[in-house]
Amino acid sequence: MALESGLRGARVLVTAASRGIGFASARAFLGEGARVVVNSSDAARLTAATDRLGALGEVHGVVADLRHRADLDRLLEETVRRLGGLDTLAYVTGSPRPGVFLEQEYEDWSRAAELLVVSPAYLARRAAEAMLAHGRGGRMVFLTSIAIREPIPNLATSSVCRIAVAGLVRTLARELGPRGIRVNGILPGFIATDRLREVLADAARRKGTAPDAERAALESEIPLGRVGEPEELARTVVFLGSELSAYVSGALLPVDGGLLRSVG
Ligand SMILES: NC(=O)c1ccc[n+]([C@@H]2O[C@H](COP(=O)([O-])OP(=O)(O)OC[C@H]3O[C@@H](n4cnc5c(N)ncnc54)[C@H](OP(=O)(O)O)[C@@H]3O)[C@@H](O)[C@H]2O)c1
Repeated sequence: MALESGLRGARVLVTAASRGIGFASARAFLGEGARVVVNSSDAARLTAATDRLGALGEVHGVVADLRHRADLDRLLEETVRRLGGLDTLAYVTGSPRPGVFLEQEYEDWSRAAELLVVSPAYLARRAAEAMLAHGRGGRMVFLTSIAIREPIPNLATSSVCRIAVAGLVRTLARELGPRGIRVNGILPGFIATDRLREVLADAARRKGTAPDAERAALESEIPLGRVGEPEELARTVVFLGSELSAYVSGALLPVDGGLLRSVG
């Protein structure tokens, strides 16, 4: 039996997609024949991304800062205007700065909460309205982190705020399931992107080591022996954002090379 994603012609919004996990996810959706809107906060980086993605299919860029309500409203409105509706939301976002708990100021918590709590919840509300308006249901996939199961040293704000996304996923799965919208979350471990380079450089600076040494130490802890590639993460985004996962809702799926040890 051939596996069908059902994504040909599907209308997909991928946020925070000028590079890294979001970019790889947009590329994977385009590979399945979806029509895609990508977003980021930086016009030049987003244009570079749409230039690369344009060869693969229909792609539109919308510059919007995910921390700002007016930008979130405009992002959803532009998406619906350009695609004629919305079938899949793949929510990726930016990162709070690394650091231990005692370094975090009030402003760090505000910024992290805007990026990791308020933004996904508000965009989900607007996306749900768009999906309900056309009566065909939909799918939402939220990127969070393995930090929701085991806090990551030196990522204090992330380890606290990303737990909210797990609550969001479970809340929406219950509320929106009866209306035909499935909602799931992904818990990435360590994926080879600019964000990982930032985290490794910060760890090396604190310990007086080198980023390569930090990466080797990290990889020695991962059962599969290496960090993941963005494309490997993107396949899971496509799985949860398509009909391949038709009976999956409310799941929080680690993609971490086996790193998480917690049971349940
Ligand atoms: N890589 C990992 O190992 C890992 C693991 C767990 C969780 N995560 C999380 O997953 C998310 C994506 O990670 P990544 O590794 O792909 O990061 P990345 O390579 O640093 O890419 C981040 C993306 O977010 C966009 N962005 C940043 N701030 C934004 C804002 N305010 N509004 C809109 N777009 C914004 C950036 O685009 P512009 O700069 O063009 O705006 C860029 O496209 C992050 O939240 C990260 O913390 C990553």
